[in-house]
Amino acid sequence: MKTDILLGLQWGDEGKGKIVDVLTKEYDIIARFQGGPNAGHTLEFEGIKHVLHTIPSGIFHEGVINLIGNGVVIDPVIFQKEIIQIKELNIATSELLISKKAHLILPTHKLLDAASEKAKGKEKIGSTLKGIGPTYMDKTGRNGLRVGDISLPNFKDRYDQLKRKHIQLLNFYNFDYKINDLEEKWFASLETLKKFRHIESEHYIHNALKKNKKILAEGAQGTLLDIDFGSYPFVTSSNTTAAGACTGLGIAPNQINDVFGIFKAYCTRVGSGPFPSELFDNTGKHIAKIGNEFGATTGRPRRCGWIDIPALKYAININGVTKLMMMKADVLSGIDTIKACTHYKNKNGEIIDYLPFENNSQLTPIYKEIKGWDMNLMELENLEDAPSELHQYINWLEETLERPIKIVSVGPKRRQTLYK
Ligand code: GDP
Ligand code: IMO
Ligand code: MG
Repeated sequence: MKTDILLGLQWGDEGKGKIVDVLTKEYDIIARFQGGPNAGHTLEFEGIKHVLHTIPSGIFHEGVINLIGNGVVIDPVIFQKEIIQIKELNIATSELLISKKAHLILPTHKLLDAASEKAKGKEKIGSTLKGIGPTYMDKTGRNGLRVGDISLPNFKDRYDQLKRKHIQLLNFYNFDYKINDLEEKWFASLETLKKFRHIESEHYIHNALKKNKKILAEGAQGTLLDIDFGSYPFVTSSNTTAAGACTGLGIAPNQINDVFGIFKAYCTRVGSGPFPSELFDNTGKHIAKIGNEFGATTGRPRRCGWIDIPALKYAININGVTKLMMMKADVLSGIDTIKACTHYKNKNGEIIDYLPFENNSQLTPIYKEIKGWDMNLMELENLEDAPSELHQYINWLEETLERPIKIVSVGPKRRQTLYK
């Protein structure tokens, strides 16, 4: 049996959490492969609205293994909060496994994130300030602390050594900070982390594959936030793309089956950075309001715009997407004319149909107009009953993107999921 991957094709918040939760019943293992508590994955069912940050979105299904892979970075304090919230809902967490190789976010990583953003001023990334960048820097710099290190006798010494390095950096930034309280909470929360099974997750996965278990790898963020292929430097610090599932779980490329690419029927972005099809008018405000576009992790308003076809094609190619899932179609109901950015005009006046290296903020979008629909989609039970204009939008996207759209989502709840 092979592994499927589900990942975002835009700038994150496509609705990955909802769909992973919906698909979990078809899998034995749900595994997060990168990112950390910068992610906010929202699940809605049976009157519950729940946001997950570190824990995979299969946690609400009994009998399914949820695995936090080696590519993930963990803040024990946030992890502990998530565990408490899940336990309050009477959900078992005994089948949650954590890779010994996952890196730890230290309190000083969070302070460094804040210091770095402050120093950048107007050029700031718009980080979630969860310490993601500094933690991955220590990982690649070969200084990081991992989950498997917690039980080593010299753990505290190694912590102190890394903290000293961080304090020097914070002083270099001239950054004011208070550490004692943060540190106390951090060490206390390690006790929760210690209670879980820390495993060599790559071996576990290889054995599971041998036994024909079905694995779904859950991405965080989105392709346009990928450290290599995103709108650098306005990106996150991990590979959010399909390759990240291989390195973040220890799964070989030839063990990948389907790659589900998930996108909104429009586009959003939270934080700084270029967004060629961004809307600054009332339609943008309308989409933000109806789509309730506020960050699940930081509460910041999300910037909204039209769907961006060159960016989607780029994401589909980088990830080898086999099937598409379109989210939040309901949000576009009632808009007379929907637009789709099909090309860009670059600063030399040339019309291009691909995402170039050059600063994407200098791209002017060129739009195709599509007739909208006016039906409330949220109560629909079958896609066949959707208005013809929505079918035309779906058909046009499938032809243009050269991939089938398998799921159309028409609301945040599990049942608001239509199959094609
Ligand atoms: P993720 O980070 O990709 O898991 O997405 P988020 O949870 O950050 O953001 C998606 C938001 O849209 C959440 O509030 C979801 O509950 C909500 N959502 C997901 N699918 C749909 C949909 O089809 N329609 C509407 N209206 N909301 C949706
Ligand atoms: P999910 O998994 C949307 C954005 C931040 C910022 C940039 C870098 O919920 O889709 P970081 O904290 O990683 O250093 O921030 O990336 N960002 C996200 N935007 N969804 C996310 O995750 C994000 N995780 C990070 O807003 O612009
Ligand atoms: Mg999110």
